[in-house]
This record gives sequence, C-alpha cells and structure tokens, in this order.
Amino acid sequence: MVDAGVVVRDLQDMRDEGHLSDALLRKAVRSIKTADDRYDWVGIYLVGEGEELWLHNYVGEPTLHAKIPVGTGICGRAVAQRRNFNVKDVSKDEDYIACSPDTKSELVILIRAGDEIFGEIDIDSDQAAAFNEEDEIAVISIADKLAEQLAAERR
Ligand code: SME
Repeated sequence: MVDAGVVVRDLQDMRDEGHLSDALLRKAVRSIKTADDRYDWVGIYLVGEGEELWLHNYVGEPTLHAKIPVGTGICGRAVAQRRNFNVKDVSKDEDYIACSPDTKSELVILIRAGDEIFGEIDIDSDQAAAFNEEDEIAVISIADKLAEQLAAERR
C-alpha cells in the first residue's frame, strides 16, 4: 500500500519550496505507482473546459483515452456522480472503458475541494479486487493535498 503520510509530506515540502500543481500532480502519480505492485497503471485526469477529462500525466502502458467526456467510462461517471469508485471487477461494469486487456480492477478517487472537482486519481490493477478500504483512504488523502494546491492556484 502507498504510505500516504510520506507522500502528503513530500507534496507539502514541494509546496513550501514553491512548486506548483503541475509538479505535484506528477510527483503524486510517481509516488503511488512505485509504492505497490498491484498498481499497474496510475494516472491523473483533470476536468477541462467543456465537460471533458484530460490526462495530465500517468505511469504505465500508453492509453488511447487521453480525453474522456464527463459521464463516460468509470472515470467520467465518477465526476458526473461526484463520488469515488472502487470497481472490483471491471468486466462486470457496463460503463468501463478498457485501457489494457489485462486490467481487472480500478480505483477512481476524486481530487476535490468542497464543491469543486478538479479531477481524479485513476489506478488500474491487473489483479481482481486489488483495492481495499486502506488503499482508498490513502489515495483520498493524497488527492486532498493535490486539491489544496489546485484550489490555491485558482484564487
Ligand atoms: N478505465 C477507465 C478509462 C481510463 S483508463 O483506465 C486509463 C474508465 O472506464 O473510465
């Protein structure tokens, strides 16, 4: 599992040094990806103009889905329904859009501050039901730290 305490501290250190969200979003993806073998693909989608998610950065196999309309796929559904998703078996989810034929489960955690949704952290695993509640809690605290920076840049 990813040690959220360490990652959140690293991200705060970067903020203190003056790094902006672009660097923090990349650091978060890399930290999560290297933390656990179950995390086969890790990326961040941001909500763009025009009800569309765009892929900011990722580690893993290249994906065809650099843009996803809000409401489409598990990623777009999370934003449309304003909630996180831990999908244990992607083959049973009718909204699922495949990035890799090997993916069995997927975790989507929103990057949000209050009512505002900035984007999401998306993790795919080649193992079925790879993500437990501890993964969810860890990724939520990383997402919250990213949201803090994104919100600060909006002001
Ligand atoms: N599986 C996602 C698409 C993005 S890829 O996992 C990189 C979805 O269903 O929205």
